[in-house]
Parts: sequence; structure tokens; C-alpha cells
Amino acid sequence: MNILITGGAGFIGSHTYVALLAHGYTPIIVDNFSNSNESVISQLASITNLPVEIIRGDINNPAVLDQVFSQYSIEGVIHFAAAKAVGESVENPLKYYRNNVGATILLLEKMQEHGVNNLVFSSSCTVYGQPETLPVTENSPVLKALSPYGNTKQICEEIIEESTRASQQLKSISLRYFNPIGAHKSAKIGELPLGPPANLVPFLTQSVAGLRGPLQIWGTDYPTPDGTAIRDYIHVCDLASAHVLGLKYLLNGGESDVFNLGNGNGFSVQEVIDTVERATGRAIAVVNAPRRMGDPARLVADARRARTQLGWQPRYPELATIVEHAWHWEQQTCAARR
Ligand code: NAD
Ligand code: WQD
Repeated sequence: MNILITGGAGFIGSHTYVALLAHGYTPIIVDNFSNSNESVISQLASITNLPVEIIRGDINNPAVLDQVFSQYSIEGVIHFAAAKAVGESVENPLKYYRNNVGATILLLEKMQEHGVNNLVFSSSCTVYGQPETLPVTENSPVLKALSPYGNTKQICEEIIEESTRASQQLKSISLRYFNPIGAHKSAKIGELPLGPPANLVPFLTQSVAGLRGPLQIWGTDYPTPDGTAIRDYIHVCDLASAHVLGLKYLLNGGESDVFNLGNGNGFSVQEVIDTVERATGRAIAVVNAPRRMGDPARLVADARRARTQLGWQPRYPELATIVEHAWHWEQQTCAARR
């Protein structure tokens, strides 16, 4: 069964590509490599021992979507393609509204035109802002977005929900990821941001590898036990398996819904640094810095809905294991860069 994965060369999309093939689906990637490297494609072929079905193109281009929907008989779409840097979205909001919202509208139109009725959407814990109670359930209020990026996720969720409600055929789920980190156990794919990483764990592993300077800890005066902010880190392969389960759920007639994806355990920035130091055996240079604007103090998921309705069971819930996989990947990519 053919499944379109937009943004399939990216961090979460590439791991989901591998998981889909392992479960008997045929994933077809559309990616414009605006935030990924062509080398991911040969790595995917190497992990799966199969040639990769890919259309190199922009999903804002109607002809690209027409091509994929005409060339392949597509049963479902997993929509990862988006720009995702919170800071950049503040500086260049139109890029984010065009690429995230505009492309999602076009995708929905093309799905309708070509009779494709199942959609899994990449949403984010960012839709919750700083929630008043933790852990966050799917019924927690969606608060005013703190960045244009966050707003694009809220708007897309609404567009998808309203389109689903208006349609007899379309069914969709939005998956709200908490903090995805880690890498495939083969260390052939992982997080490979273009330029300096904006996220904590890739910055730390690149810093240990000598590619970056000291880590700035953004905020040491939060109302948390050690003063640094708390997040719920989730292994990218566990996210990938949730997408396969989400797709099966839709194909088996499941109702449109939203699902949190996190482990339900909060770790502070300091605890993550300690874990990376243990995994790598090296000390990490840090500098205390002011809080980053818009950062919540704590964000932890209640993901029971995904467990009960999708049958999702994270395979790597231990932060130490997730960080080890991230480090293993960093060492491989670092060696390849030399
Ligand atoms: P990523 O940047 O690694 O992957 C996105 C992929 O989409 C890249 O390969 C990029 O080249 C491609 N792409 C972007 N715009 C495109 C376009 N117009 N046409 C074709 N391809 C395009 O990001 P990721 O971390 O894998 O995130 C995937 C999705 O999950 C995104 O929608 C992101 O907003 C969402 N998300 C990510 C996180 C996170 O922390 N990584 C958390 C929550 C939600
Ligand atoms: C984790 C913690 C930082 C880097 C982001 C997006 C969110 C979602 C997931 C897409 C925070 C601190 C980080 C650094 C630091 N993505 N930090 N120094 O901000 O929780 O979530 O990714 O939807 O929308 O905002 O993740 O990895 O950037 O930060 O102190 O150099 O590490 O302040 O407390 P975040 P992160």
C-alpha cells in the first residue's frame, strides 16, 4: 500500500520511512531538501536494502503533488514537510505561513481532487504554550501561540479538523510531538540540521564532538528543582512507530482525533547535560544565559490516549538510551564529515 510522506528526508520523516517499510507499506517521499541532506536517501536505501521512491520537489508546487498522486495510487499521507525553527519564524513569519499553512491547504485540496482520504499531520506540543496543569492531556486548552511557527501548527490543526468535519471521506489525526531526539540504532540516520542546531540535544552532541562551543543554558531561575526548564524527550523511532499505528488506525476506520506523543517523564536541561556527559564520558562546557523568550518552564505529556487508542508503547523510554543513540549517530556523522 502506497503512503506519501511529505518531508520524508527530514529527521522524523526518515525514521518513519524505515518503520513504514518494516510494516509492509510502500512509502513515497516528496522532499525539496530545504532542511535535509541528499545523503539521507542513500542511507535509507542502505538500511532497507531497497531503492527509495522519491520525488524531489516542493509541495507548494501543485504540479509536484499532481505528479505523485497520479504516478502512484496513494492510500494515505503523512505530512511532515514544514519549516520548524521557532526563532526564524519570528524573523520571517511569511515564510512559515506560506510553507506550513499554504502547503497544507494545497495538500488537502490535492488529496480531495485525487480521492485520497487519510491524513496524519505532524503537530507539536507547542500548541499548549505554558499549560497551567501537568501532565498535558489533549483536552488541555490550546493557548495563544508564542511564535509564528507555533501559530502555523494551531492553524493547520484547525484547517484539517474543519476540512475533516466538512467531508464525508477525509479522516485525519494530528500527532502532537513533545521533544523528539535520538537516532536509528544503525546510526545511519539521525538528526542532521543544516547549520547550528537550535535544539538542545543535537547542540550538546555536536559540542562534545568539537563542532560547537559551550552550551548556553537558557534560564537557571525557573521554578524547578535545579532552576532549569523541564521537557519530555521522546525517541524518534518511538515517534515513527506511532505514525505507523496512527495510519493503521485511520485505515481501520478510526475516528479523526489528536494525540500527544511523549514519555510522560520530565527532565531538566541540567539533567540532560548530565546524561550526555555520562553517555559520552566527556565534560560539557556551559554558560548560564537568560531565559529564551516564550519558553515554558515545564512541559510534560500525558500520552495515555495514544497508548489506549493506537496501542502505542514506546520502546526506548529511558533518556540514557535515547541519548546514547543520539551520540552514536553523532560519532558516525562526525567521522563522515572529516
Ligand atoms: P526536518 O526539518 O528534519 O524535516 C522536514 C523535511 O521537510 C525536510 O527534509 C525538508 O527539506 C522538507 N520540506 C520542508 N518544506 C518543504 C516543502 N515545501 N516541500 C518539500 N519538502 C519540504 O523536521 P522534523 O524534525 O523531521 O519535523 C517534521 C515535522 O514535525 C515538521 O512538521 C515539524 O514542524 C514537526 N515537529 C517537529 C518537532 C521537532 O522538535 N523536531 C517537534 C514537533 C513537531
Ligand atoms: C529544550 C530546552 C531550552 C538549546 C522545541 C520547539 C517546540 C517543538 C520541540 C517543534 C529548553 C533549552 C536549548 C540551547 C538551552 N518543536 N536549551 N540551550 O524549545 O522545548 O521545543 O522543539 O514543534 O515547538 O520550541 O526544545 O530542544 O530547543 O530546548 O538551554 O542551546 O533546552 O531553553 O528549555 P523546546 P529545545
